[in-house]
Amino acid sequence: MCGIVGYIGDRDAQPILLQSLRRLEYRGYDSCGIAVLASTIKVHKDVGRVEQLEKALPRNKGKLGIGHTRWATHGKPSKSNAHPHIDCSGKIAVVHNGVIDNFQQLRDKLTQEGHRFHSDTDSEVMPHLIESYYQGDLEQAVRRALVDVHGSYSLIVLAANHKELLVARNESPLVVGVGDGENFVASDVPALLDYTDRVIYLEDGDVGVITDDEIRLFNQAGEVRRETNVIPWTMEDAQKGGYDHFMLKEIHEQPRVIRDTLGGYLSAIEPEVDLGLESTEFEDILLLACGTSYHAGLVGRYLLEKVARIPVRVEIASEFNHSNAVLGKTWVIGITQSGETADLLGAIKKAKQMGCKTLAITNCVGSSATRIADQTFYIRAQPEIGVAATKSFIAQLIALYLLALSQAKMDIKSREGLIRELRLLPDKVQLILDGEDGISKYGKYLSTYDNAFFVARGINFPMALEGALKLKEISYIHAEAYPAGELKHGPFALLTPDTPVIAIAAGDDTYEAMLTNIKEIKARESPVIALADEADEDIDKFVDYVIRVPSVAPIFSPVINSVVLQLLAYYAAKERGCSIDMPRNLAKSVTVK
Ligand code: AGP
Repeated sequence: MCGIVGYIGDRDAQPILLQSLRRLEYRGYDSCGIAVLASTIKVHKDVGRVEQLEKALPRNKGKLGIGHTRWATHGKPSKSNAHPHIDCSGKIAVVHNGVIDNFQQLRDKLTQEGHRFHSDTDSEVMPHLIESYYQGDLEQAVRRALVDVHGSYSLIVLAANHKELLVARNESPLVVGVGDGENFVASDVPALLDYTDRVIYLEDGDVGVITDDEIRLFNQAGEVRRETNVIPWTMEDAQKGGYDHFMLKEIHEQPRVIRDTLGGYLSAIEPEVDLGLESTEFEDILLLACGTSYHAGLVGRYLLEKVARIPVRVEIASEFNHSNAVLGKTWVIGITQSGETADLLGAIKKAKQMGCKTLAITNCVGSSATRIADQTFYIRAQPEIGVAATKSFIAQLIALYLLALSQAKMDIKSREGLIRELRLLPDKVQLILDGEDGISKYGKYLSTYDNAFFVARGINFPMALEGALKLKEISYIHAEAYPAGELKHGPFALLTPDTPVIAIAAGDDTYEAMLTNIKEIKARESPVIALADEADEDIDKFVDYVIRVPSVAPIFSPVINSVVLQLLAYYAAKERGCSIDMPRNLAKSVTVK
């Protein structure tokens, strides 16, 4: 949700800023801009993507600069609302990610003092506020300004006559890239990897003074040292690798992701799961998450209740934040690919304040969730760039299988049987990927409709939700998901021959009921595409089209079905010519509430 970058060193800043911004476009892409310190600060910004900005840019020479790629919160995408924002004197430029809650009061006060604003954004108060306190010492002015600010921010400040960048972080991610005779700043690691693999994660409340050869960080207690981390993956891992889209590449990485995530926690020889977590005493579990991660949580509930016999609730984090939840000895588990989703971070904090032990299941080392939660369980998906979560979702499911198995209350033989099946999943997923062409034709078929329904029962109902989310997110086809038994309670009114229904007919104890529902749907003349087990010999009689999936134990069917649904959405979106990796109005990491 907005990406910010900064550079200071001996090279031309402009190409480095543009390259870093391109790497961050998954965070927001409705407008962008850069500011470079030449003899004066040169600001260039506009609506659209970095590619367009670059075409219109003069060659600014300067060795310090900042940049921003935006996901609009305050004010529509426009040139004036794009960052960087600059003060009245033209000497202080700021890029900001986050939301300044009290911007209106600050803006009113600054306007009375004579400052003139040119945007609808909350962020524009920052350069003016810093200007109002500036008396020659940039660091002091920034620190003083931050005292007045309520809200979330990661920001980079560039000022004329200062060979330093000022940075600050509160509830919004910020990373410093450590170079030799040069330093970099960004919202996220991919922006830095072309230049360095050494990074320092700032913490909430940190303010930093970055020069070309020094990184000094302070919090309220004074100067602080933060560890330098070496990133274990390369830019190549974050490239498309010959695929048309990151999403497709990430779908194809899933067998490897399952192996890696299992490999981290499941003994290669023994049926032993070791999550490396300190034991926590609890009576029940609350799973919190947003979007696709919430769907993983819904599957998690089935797993934990079935395998571990633990009472589990699942809540959307943003709802939990405003709820009157009563928690007892509850283990609160936040599921988040990015580890930066503001709603989820708020929810974990709330749970901690209520005295609960917390665990974050995340993909991102050093992310905010890992700092806030008591413990972390890393999935091993590696960087996910496509806005649509695919491989991270599969890895979250694998983490939840492992969690359930680590708490299993069942006889040893059944537990070992499940672990054996778990190890087979990469190959089963590969079988689906091998049959991609067959699935793509149904994606193309769906692309001709304006509406679609996804139905399932039991452990696959969350897959219906996930299939519908994927389809609407990247192909813009309106999609609804229902537990199949619910259709008759209202949604049937919408079923027509123009409403295809994707029905997941898993070979479990819901199968008979599902067939009944499919017959009811067919009676309304909707075309039905079923996802059915390869061994299912009956299904063809009742539906229009069948996508066969490899046989797995029913408890693992969500993994298999979700890969099919990802491919369906991908090919529907491709056929419609959509911007698959950067769908309209969305961003990869949602760092605002
Ligand atoms: C789905 O494809 C989305 N990218 C979105 O729903 C996402 O899962 C949600 O915003 C939560 O993100 P997180 O896992 O990073 O917390």
